[in-house]
Amino acid sequence: MKANHHSHHALHTFTPDPMEAAAAPDPSAPPAVRIALEAKATNWEVSPGVTISGYGYNGQVPGPVIEATQGEPIEIAFTNNLSEPTLIHWHGLRVPAAMDGTQATQRPVAPGETFVYRFTPPDAGTFWYHPHANETEQLEKGLYGAFIVRGADEPVVDREQILVFDDVDADKQGRLSKFGGFRERHDGREGDIRLINGKAEPELTIAAGQVERWRIINASSARYIRLSLGGATFRIIGTDGGLIEAPVEATEVLLPTADRVDILVGPLEEGQTLSIDSLRYLRSTMKVRGKERFGTLKVGPAKPSIASIPSRLRTIEPLAPIDATPTRNVKFSVGLSLRNIIDFNVNGETHHTDKPVKVGELQIWDVENASLMDHPFHLHGFFFQVLSIDGKAPAFRSWEDVVNLPPRTTVKIAWIPEDRPGKWMYHCHILEHHEAGMMGHFDLVR
Ligand code: C2O
Ligand code: CU
Repeated sequence: MKANHHSHHALHTFTPDPMEAAAAPDPSAPPAVRIALEAKATNWEVSPGVTISGYGYNGQVPGPVIEATQGEPIEIAFTNNLSEPTLIHWHGLRVPAAMDGTQATQRPVAPGETFVYRFTPPDAGTFWYHPHANETEQLEKGLYGAFIVRGADEPVVDREQILVFDDVDADKQGRLSKFGGFRERHDGREGDIRLINGKAEPELTIAAGQVERWRIINASSARYIRLSLGGATFRIIGTDGGLIEAPVEATEVLLPTADRVDILVGPLEEGQTLSIDSLRYLRSTMKVRGKERFGTLKVGPAKPSIASIPSRLRTIEPLAPIDATPTRNVKFSVGLSLRNIIDFNVNGETHHTDKPVKVGELQIWDVENASLMDHPFHLHGFFFQVLSIDGKAPAFRSWEDVVNLPPRTTVKIAWIPEDRPGKWMYHCHILEHHEAGMMGHFDLVR
């Protein structure tokens, strides 16, 4: 569903520099896009006869696709009609701290209340939105949606599809299994109902000869998607923070929870049927998963193509050399304790309070995973570059807000705290680990 666009007369100057574009919008400018979002109990049919009594935004799962334009103000009036408090985090969007939608930045929106979020998306890309209160239950029940920001100069494709991946732990009647328990606390919640856009194993289509842009979001609580299209080659063109510098050919790509990737699919040949799979990925869970299907792709009759993909998509200047000296160490670890049985720590404690960060001071963080399981590290409100993974440069340069931390590995990241002071956080995006306290809070100060 497309959001409504009205009063499209805001004058704005567009600056392509992502750091400058983060400057505060002109508060007198009327928002170009106004949206009303409502969270409420929603019956959500994942497959014929299997209906989950969950939650939805505007009565649907995923929630409506929010479409915004880079550099244009947007206003979202959010009403909570659940019977529990909630709030909305705009995952990946570089918004002012007060609009980040966490319990560090605002009082949860009580049942019956409305809160208006206002910001100007500074970056084009594929983002998403989800609650930041009781996340383990609220996301599993269906509260999440895609948030797309379009730039002025995007590659021309024949068609675009937005694919939000998720899984649900429910029985054959669609009854959600009980929340909690040791395995769920350890592995994070995974389920056997595998979804794309809220439907179990759907059949997608593409016309032969055409090139589509797929914007892919992993909205699962804990599951890693090691995406494969039946072994077919596709081209990666974007990550969390928008386009990368040049298309990269691949036959698979790993999306830890909360991660996004934009890929070009096609041209393919008529009559082909490709399985949209997540390949076996071992992340030291108690329950091991092999290759599993999320959907299929059928290639229909040929259509002409107007796709035009430049070989250079964008320039991303490196923030720091690969061996830059860290300004901070962040250590994720898992330990045993009498109280919780299993603890998820950052720098030795749950809900870690980290040192303040100063606006404008280049951050080089060594993010270490001292544990034997993977954790997806997520930084709120800012994009970082991955400088190295155990000393080795990543395959290509990109802007990210989620990066996987493999076991016993140190990932070096660099980021610039622009002038958006306030309360920020980073955490493991396996929701059960996040809830257990695998997170750090810090103040961004001037
Ligand atoms: Cu998707 Cu605290 O974030
Ligand atoms: Cu984790």
